[in-house]
Amino acid sequence: MSNAIGEFSRYAHQYDNYNVIQVEVAKILVKQLASSEYKTLIDIGCGSGEVYKNVVKQDILFEHFIALDSSREMLGIHPSDQKITKICADFNSPQTFEKITLEQNSLLLSSSALQWSTNLEYTLFEISKKVSSVHFAIFTSNTFKTLHKTAQISSPIYSVEVLKDNIGKYYEATFRLKEYKLYFQTTKEMFNYIKKSGVSGGKQQLTYKQIKQLMKSYPFDYLEFEVLFVEARC
Ligand SMILES: C[S@@+](CC[C@H](N)C(=O)[O-])C[C@H]1O[C@@H](n2cnc3c(N)ncnc32)[C@H](O)[C@@H]1O
Repeated sequence: MSNAIGEFSRYAHQYDNYNVIQVEVAKILVKQLASSEYKTLIDIGCGSGEVYKNVVKQDILFEHFIALDSSREMLGIHPSDQKITKICADFNSPQTFEKITLEQNSLLLSSSALQWSTNLEYTLFEISKKVSSVHFAIFTSNTFKTLHKTAQISSPIYSVEVLKDNIGKYYEATFRLKEYKLYFQTTKEMFNYIKKSGVSGGKQQLTYKQIKQLMKSYPFDYLEFEVLFVEARC
């Protein structure tokens, strides 16, 4: 099992979008693919198509691409093509996987989305019945680590240990852990990013007063992210 830890930094002001890290993660995920030819690729939590765009950019051949997301708006902005089937469905719901049939040599991809699985063990179990080869990148609870600590709240997403345990129940996996730092010029910019980026989980909403307090006591001019890249077979 590989456990390489990589780290890199970015400056948020160099980008005009709120998904700088996700864009990078999708690029790395696709770069790590072992083959350059697949029959069917399925991307769950496909969003606006970062995975698909990288697949095309990196000349990876496929006959069929299934783009699955629970958001109609996201699917609306995902690229369209004769080879693409868009499915609006929730990967937390049992009916979603009942509807999908995949050939044996299909590959399931997922980038920056599975941290939203409400029951990861169940989602992985359902996935493992459909496809034996998966490659995904998932944010861990060390994302916004110091922010959560400063606000004295626990992360709404899974820790590396829990992720590895659950994945190990259904798959033989190789893991790569990567840390990211995203720097901001002002605290205000940083907190706007948190609100809009969609990586922190919206369950534990802080009040306006708590956010103001947090902005005063947060010690860094950067945000922390941690992503587990998983290559797995069952
Ligand atoms: C942070 S975005 C990542 C999008 C894309 N994979 C990328 O790399 O840019 C997470 C995506 O997961 C989708 N998502 C969240 N929960 C989901 C669920 N339960 N079922 C299906 N899609 C979900 C969201 O709608 C969103 O498009």
